[in-house]
Amino acid sequence: MAQTLPLKPRLPVLASSLCALSVLAGCALWSFMPSPAEGQRLYAQNCVQCHGASGLGDGDLAQGMAPRPANLTQIAAQNGGAFPRTRVLSAIDGYAKGTRGGAMPEFGAWLGGPTVPVALEDGSQTPVPRPLAALLGYLESIQTPG
Ligand code: HEC
Repeated sequence: MAQTLPLKPRLPVLASSLCALSVLAGCALWSFMPSPAEGQRLYAQNCVQCHGASGLGDGDLAQGMAPRPANLTQIAAQNGGAFPRTRVLSAIDGYAKGTRGGAMPEFGAWLGGPTVPVALEDGSQTPVPRPLAALLGYLESIQTPG
């Protein structure tokens, strides 16, 4: 599986400290993940036909597809209960770039535009194109126990 997330140089840790200090100022601009609702809209437009309304991998186009669209509600369960943000971002990024192959379509247009900092497992804050961050947040919100 191609792992092509462009991990840009990390935002300084300073960012979060500044946010803590300036709650009132422009912090909201870049300190928060897009809401899962924002990701859900993108999901409904771009993913539901394969991954299904509930993310179970049972969308209308899924039948007969090989490999099958992934069950997106079990990503954490299959990873010992922790949602692997880096891995999922790499997957979404990979098919956004068309490097992932398989049936996944390309969403390259999403890679331009503004980024938001996303906290990754290693403690870094990595700038991620906003639509990808929104999808990540949505997928994280629909995880169910295995
Ligand atoms: C045309 C069908 C199709 C569409 C549309 C589609 N996917 Fe997929 N997706 C697949 C298939 C098939 C796989 C499993 C094979 C693979 O990993 O390439 C997959 C795998 C994935 C994985 C990897 C899961 C894992 O455990 O590694 C993620 C994450 C994912 N899709 C998210 C999305 C998101 C988010 C969207 C919408 C932006 C989307 N997919 C749209 C077919 C699709």
